[in-house]
Amino acid sequence: MTIIPSSFNTSNNKNIKPKASKAERANVLSAKETKSDQSTEGNLRPKTIDEYVGQTRLKSMLAMSIAAAKTRGEPLDHLLFYGPPGLGKTTLASIIANEMGAKLHLSSGPSLERPRDILGLVHQLAAHDVLFIDEIHRLSKTSEELLYPAMEDFVIDLTAGKGHATRTMRLPLPRFTLVGATTKAAMLSNALRDRFGLVMRLEFYNMEELSQIVERTSKILSLDIEDNAVEIIACRARGTPRIANRLVRLVRDFCQYKGQSKISKDLAHEALETYQVDALGLDPTDRQLLTILIDNYAGGPVGLETLAASLGEDSNTLEDVYEPYLIQNGFIQRTPRGRLATAKAYTHLGRKAPDRQLTFNMEIADIENG
Ligand SMILES: Nc1ncnc2c1ncn2[C@@H]1O[C@H](COP(=O)(O)OP(=O)(O)OP(=O)(O)O)[C@@H](O)[C@H]1O
Ligand SMILES: [Mg+2]
Repeated sequence: MTIIPSSFNTSNNKNIKPKASKAERANVLSAKETKSDQSTEGNLRPKTIDEYVGQTRLKSMLAMSIAAAKTRGEPLDHLLFYGPPGLGKTTLASIIANEMGAKLHLSSGPSLERPRDILGLVHQLAAHDVLFIDEIHRLSKTSEELLYPAMEDFVIDLTAGKGHATRTMRLPLPRFTLVGATTKAAMLSNALRDRFGLVMRLEFYNMEELSQIVERTSKILSLDIEDNAVEIIACRARGTPRIANRLVRLVRDFCQYKGQSKISKDLAHEALETYQVDALGLDPTDRQLLTILIDNYAGGPVGLETLAASLGEDSNTLEDVYEPYLIQNGFIQRTPRGRLATAKAYTHLGRKAPDRQLTFNMEIADIENG
């Protein structure tokens, strides 16, 4: 059976029209989870620390803590993972539960708004269970305060009645491990952050690690893929396993559509070009942003609001969705005077960086390096 990707124009196979609009970017290169990710992620999630690629320092700390906790016969200390979407925070929570031989209870900040939501959750806990709270920065104040004694002393304080009739009851809880995850660590209160025994940041993955992830995923999906094709996908995955996995699926669909059984370098390249994902993982909106910065503002510096207005986006989207990867990868710099296109941005768009730009970039680099 040939599976035809929904984004392809099926009326004329030779004229596959790329449709990478801004809306489509949300599916192809967004690090946020989509519905189609959800349907396949179950199979792709590593189940043990050994299967989990990269994050070496974090993994060895975690392996030590797990081994120590197991030797003592105690639950693992509470852990907080933070970092951009799609880097493997939820995966780590399930690995921890698996390695500890404990049950995983999944929850998220927005769904624990009222005290009774927390009560319903902790009520199900058994000793050593792992309670995972995603988007923990979005917990309501009341829920957060209920969690403090639960985390510190494994008790929960309940108040019943009103006015003079108010009574407080203290309920003991089994000793559990709270694993929190957030993409916005700065929005977490100090009081909550301080109650975690380990706070660990996830880093973007390098090329070698992403290649390993692409290989692993291809194997799980029983794909026949050339080494060069693995590299092409890894290069464009924006340092993010979720995107790497999504690109593998897109390339697989493209190959099936073309009636090919082996994913060659050329097919992988053609597939990703069709989706307008370029050699360094930039999509049309990223390139448009850089082009505006270079052509309309002579490479900058230009203020965030002005740049956002020129792009037709709001400044929050520009800052949260588009900029992080471009900054992280040295295409733009955030300076006190505004956004600045780097020499790398000029080169990537096939332009020559003006000397002024290079001098300015060097000055900025000097300031940043102290
Ligand atoms: N280290 C890794 N090795 C192999 N695959 C990984 C790794 N980290 C993540 N993945 C893959 O990437 C997918 C996304 O990871 P995960 O859902 O854990 O990200 P997340 O950090 O929780 O994202 P979000 O912030 O959106 O909740 C997983 O389904 C898994 O298949
Ligand atoms: Mg997650």
